[in-house]
Amino acid sequence: MTLSSADFEYIAKLVKDEAGITLDKGKEYLVQSRVEPVAKSLGFENITSLVSHLQREADRSRRRRVVESLTTHETSFFRDIEPFEALRTKVLPELLDLRASAKELSIWCGAASSGQEPYSLCMLLRESFPELADWRLKFHATDVSGHILEKARTASFNQIEVNRGLPIKLLAKYFEKKGQDWVLKPQVAQMVRFSEFNLLAPFSVLAPADLVMLRNVLIYFDIETKKQILRKVYDLLKPGGYLFLGTAETTLGLCDEFERITFEKTSCYKKRG
Ligand SMILES: C[S@@+](CC[C@H](N)C(=O)[O-])C[C@H]1O[C@@H](n2cnc3c(N)ncnc32)[C@H](O)[C@@H]1O
Repeated sequence: MTLSSADFEYIAKLVKDEAGITLDKGKEYLVQSRVEPVAKSLGFENITSLVSHLQREADRSRRRRVVESLTTHETSFFRDIEPFEALRTKVLPELLDLRASAKELSIWCGAASSGQEPYSLCMLLRESFPELADWRLKFHATDVSGHILEKARTASFNQIEVNRGLPIKLLAKYFEKKGQDWVLKPQVAQMVRFSEFNLLAPFSVLAPADLVMLRNVLIYFDIETKKQILRKVYDLLKPGGYLFLGTAETTLGLCDEFERITFEKTSCYKKRG
């Protein structure tokens, strides 16, 4: 059964209202292929019956199931590598200098997906900045999807996932083989605290940050939503703090208070001060 335009519009509005994600016309196939199995698994005959139910009832958990089915969790260890090189060679040494007297560093990863991004950063910190051992490191990783965070918290990855971007040396040093999967050692996994957080919400519950990783999520939002989120990130950052976005994302024309810092093959954004 093909998706009616009324059902598509209802679902597109739901996903925009709840997660900020824009589903333009032409994404009907995506909605059909992701929401149909959700409708069936919830006992509805098809998407139309699920939509009629959601229109009648304030059913929070089923709404969430639909929204979660339309979030994209694509990620990998050390994704795009250059940002991690910039962190290792320039950004983290500068932040460590800046915070040397307080010996405290605060990192927030705002679209953490299944954990590869925050865990990559943890391994980088352990490999290259052993002096952090006696610092207070606050590392908070969040995502709108509770379901993907459950996976992140397990810190368990299959062979295909570890093959994507994780150097063999780090696999051998920081992971243990359990059955078919590789589990990150607790001393590294426990560096990160995961919790659910929607980027559309006020940031008042988040701690001020020295470093914000917000990669490959702004692409799903419209311009107004990007502007609002970047403004909140700017306010959350401590003076001198850094923001990393995905390769296809920028603050330019959206929040021009940020200073763009360019490296040989990548760039990031700094809060002046
Ligand atoms: C493509 S993944 C990016 C993962 C990682 N940052 C990376 O670059 O590899 C995008 C993540 O953003 C999350 N997301 C989408 N909308 C969100 C929102 N409104 N608030 C918080 N997270 C959101 C999704 O659940 C998904 O896990």
